[in-house]
Amino acid sequence: MSSNKILVTGGCGYIGSHTTLLLFEAGFDVVVVDNLANSSKESLRRVEQLSGKTVELYQLDVRDNDALTAVFAKHEFKAVIHFAGLKAVGESTEIPLDYYDQNISGTINLLKVMQQFNCYQIVFSSSATVYGDPASVPITEDFPTSATNPYGRTKLFVEEILRDLSRADDQWHVIMLRYFNPIGAHQSGLIGEQPQGIPNNLMPFISQVAAGKRDKLSIFGGDYSTPDGTGIRDYIHVMDLSDAHVKAIHKIDGLVGTTTLNIGTGNGYSVLEMVHTFEEVTGVFVAHEIVERRAGDIAECWAEPKLASSVLGWKAKLNLNDMMTDTWRWQKDNPDGF
Ligand code: NAD
Ligand code: UFG
Repeated sequence: MSSNKILVTGGCGYIGSHTTLLLFEAGFDVVVVDNLANSSKESLRRVEQLSGKTVELYQLDVRDNDALTAVFAKHEFKAVIHFAGLKAVGESTEIPLDYYDQNISGTINLLKVMQQFNCYQIVFSSSATVYGDPASVPITEDFPTSATNPYGRTKLFVEEILRDLSRADDQWHVIMLRYFNPIGAHQSGLIGEQPQGIPNNLMPFISQVAAGKRDKLSIFGGDYSTPDGTGIRDYIHVMDLSDAHVKAIHKIDGLVGTTTLNIGTGNGYSVLEMVHTFEEVTGVFVAHEIVERRAGDIAECWAEPKLASSVLGWKAKLNLNDMMTDTWRWQKDNPDGF
């Protein structure tokens, strides 16, 4: 019988922990590798609490060939879901070598070990950042790609590496999911996003202002050519995003070569709409002011998610109210994170 076991790299992190939970619920066994650079073991303890299953965690760096080889020697994997990597755009401009090393060398090491153990199925976390500043919206997968910072470049390079690999060897089944803006948390309030330090992203910043941890939200730019002048993004609930990974694992046997899919809702919301919806849903005021644009930001970015729907049979089900409610429950129940 073929293996039912999935290796999740970066499984202690935000998206990885939610996906691990859904994989358990779908009946898969899960092994996690994570170096805990941006997470804690507590996320998996909570996943165990929610699922009633045990996760085997190996604390290791995906660049460590010996450590990763030992994991593959012990387990037979059906597929790998590869989340592990660094993800802060601003930081990537300050320490580009770290980003290239962890995100690109880390992936190359993983792929080599997979090949050595005849494991040829991988789901890779790509990003809408690969579209750069899109000429129009909604964005389809055939739009031109570009990068404006080292983080985005690591995603582009890894996508190209995966394409080269599957061109060279048709045993590979590669699904690259280009996430739009993941927010929200599991409905239990037990797992969620735990940014370290001052959040870079909008949603954790809004919830920390609401919780009284920060004075006010700075809205980066009020003069974009959007209806209210603030930036528009495609926010997607982390549970819907995680569900896309489970559907990808279900379909991967039949998808030879590379498959590249947008994972978004197809709806765009402005920063001001996000603030106002959060206030309406939670009844909590969010102090904010409009400041200068943030360097590198674009006016609008949202997905055409039809291809994911036809290829995976996946669609986002949760709406903006769900995203706000669940973010706020997680924040209130865990004021200091895990
Ligand atoms: P996260 O930081 O919460 O999770 C990443 C996990 O990988 C962490 O637990 C971290 O400790 C681990 N990790 C980092 N480097 C590692 C290494 N060298 N070896 C082993 N483990 C390592 O981030 P996330 O939001 O869950 O993102 C997961 C993936 O999705 C990342 O690849 C990210 O680039 C991508 N992505 C995220 C977003 C987003 O907005 N959250 C958007 C698009 C793409
Ligand atoms: N914003 C603010 N104030 C803040 C934070 C954000 O006004 O304090 C605005 C931004 O200007 C933007 C919107 O809120 O208009 C969303 O910003 P985020 O930082 O939450 O998300 P981005 O769209 O800039 O980037 C995110 C990830 C990237 C990923 C990209 C596309 O952080 O890694 O989505 O997937 F590449």
